[in-house]
Amino acid sequence: MAEDLQIVKGNKVEQYQNLIPQIKGLLTGEPDLIANLANITAALKEQFGWFWIGFYIVKNDELVLGPFQGPVACTRIKKGRGVCGTSWAKAETLIVPDVEQFPGHIACSSLSKSEIVVPLIKEGIVWGVLDVDSSTLDQFDATDKLYLEDILALIEY
Ligand code: SME
Repeated sequence: MAEDLQIVKGNKVEQYQNLIPQIKGLLTGEPDLIANLANITAALKEQFGWFWIGFYIVKNDELVLGPFQGPVACTRIKKGRGVCGTSWAKAETLIVPDVEQFPGHIACSSLSKSEIVVPLIKEGIVWGVLDVDSSTLDQFDATDKLYLEDILALIEY
């Protein structure tokens, strides 16, 4: 049984460095992918309080909504569409400081202002993405990219 998450205040680096060992602990010994993706979104939501945090998983050549925290969202995204589909097509993390400036951005909510999407890659193939939306402009930077990529590297698929 998982303990309560220990939440810290402080700068972003301190918050990630406190959170990552706890996420490792949550994932250790649990082979179920959905359970692990669900706990990762919950842990990130508790620590950072971002507007929307969730996974999309590649199924039949589309991204399909997976475990998430936040308001209801678009269920399917095609390759190359929106920030998520572009991150999938490029197999790279995308930081979008202002979603209105991203051509083709898919607005699941008008409250989302900035976004980071990190691909889940195994043996060179993208099998999903983590999408994080903020209601604040310019929320995400290279620190988020670094630590979110570290967190995704903990997932066994
Ligand atoms: N904004 C994303 C779509 C997913 S929602 O934000 C949850 C995009 O442009 O891909």
